[in-house]
Amino acid sequence: MYDVDALRTLVPALSDGTAYFDAPGGTQTPAPVAGVVARTMTSGISNRGTVTASERRAEEVVRGARNAMADLLGADPRGVVFGRSMTQITYDLARTLAAGWSEGDEVVVSRLDHDANVRPWVQAAERAGVTVRWIDFDPQTAELTVDDVAAVLTERTRLVALTAASNLVGTRPDVAAISRLVHDAGALFAVDGVHATAHAGTDVGALGADFHLCSPYKFMGPHCGVLAASPELLETLHPDKLAPSTDAVPERFELGTLPYELLAGTSATVDLIASLGSGDSGTTRRERVLDAMAAIEEHEDRLRLRIENGLVDLGAQLWSRAARRTPTLLFRLPGVADADVHRGLAERGVNAPAGSFYALECSRRLGLGDTGAVRVGLAPYSDAGDVDRLLTALGELV
Ligand SMILES: Cc1ncc(COP(=O)(O)O)c(C=O)c1O
Repeated sequence: MYDVDALRTLVPALSDGTAYFDAPGGTQTPAPVAGVVARTMTSGISNRGTVTASERRAEEVVRGARNAMADLLGADPRGVVFGRSMTQITYDLARTLAAGWSEGDEVVVSRLDHDANVRPWVQAAERAGVTVRWIDFDPQTAELTVDDVAAVLTERTRLVALTAASNLVGTRPDVAAISRLVHDAGALFAVDGVHATAHAGTDVGALGADFHLCSPYKFMGPHCGVLAASPELLETLHPDKLAPSTDAVPERFELGTLPYELLAGTSATVDLIASLGSGDSGTTRRERVLDAMAAIEEHEDRLRLRIENGLVDLGAQLWSRAARRTPTLLFRLPGVADADVHRGLAERGVNAPAGSFYALECSRRLGLGDTGAVRVGLAPYSDAGDVDRLLTALGELV
């Protein structure tokens, strides 16, 4: 049984009474995670090494964080790369891959994606003289199908970049099926898992993602970004790096000194997530993570349904319609401007901003221009009381 009350007692921010529905932008941090971040900064810590205790501590933090993310994602820890953000890592990756592209090659991006999985590829393609092709989606259903991807693949496709879930409308394309098509075409597959990783168990192998990116601050962790890839694939790539820095994988992809405190916090986050399941779900952390993510998904889906029904009752227009989706709802209230909904909710202690949330192409395709609509998203700590307050507040605004 998923115990949301127990989790809520661990999240200090919730004690201010705010109902946080802005989790797709960033989650609130549990005290055990923040405590590990602080303790890492105040314990003796030096640059990584093997001689002093503080060097070994840094080494252990990095090793621990790679293992933790590998357990969260079903990935190989030797291919886990840390960076400042998903956006930064994607820019670096695009620049590195583009060095191997030639004129006539094609790169595929989608209109469903956050701009962080669009613009870095588009800009790298333009500089390399490579053609950009766009995967469309159906704005009526918000579905992006395998056929939509098949329609743009050619023998010149070098890379396909696609999200595992839309941060604007929640759509979860069938990434595993799409990866088979992408690989049949001989292309690499870069999957934006930033939104999806927060809401469902992830298995990068089953997804067929050559590159899988996510950001721990979307699942109650610190502000950093994570790339998971096979170490063998990373060995074939040569990013710009400083002369004295190691050429080893995955360090080759990590520019400068790693933020040890954030990495330690990331490990603590995965441990915390692993503790949220039923408790009798196997012995490995990976098994416990998957059990916990299934419980979180079920909990969030239940709350999402209540919100959705409430929105329908209020006569709201909803753009989140895909059959498979995260608990992220984009809507507009009848007769109330989006900015007024955002402000009116804020006055009532409910956080749910309006915007396109950097899913610019998606917002445009939905006919919402660059300004989007109101977004409500859930987190593992969201509860029925939050939903009551949201629906009551929306009712008052209508
Ligand atoms: C789906 C999605 N992809 C990418 C990003 C960018 O992540 P980061 O802030 O780590 O660069 C976000 C952030 O909102 C997102 O929601």
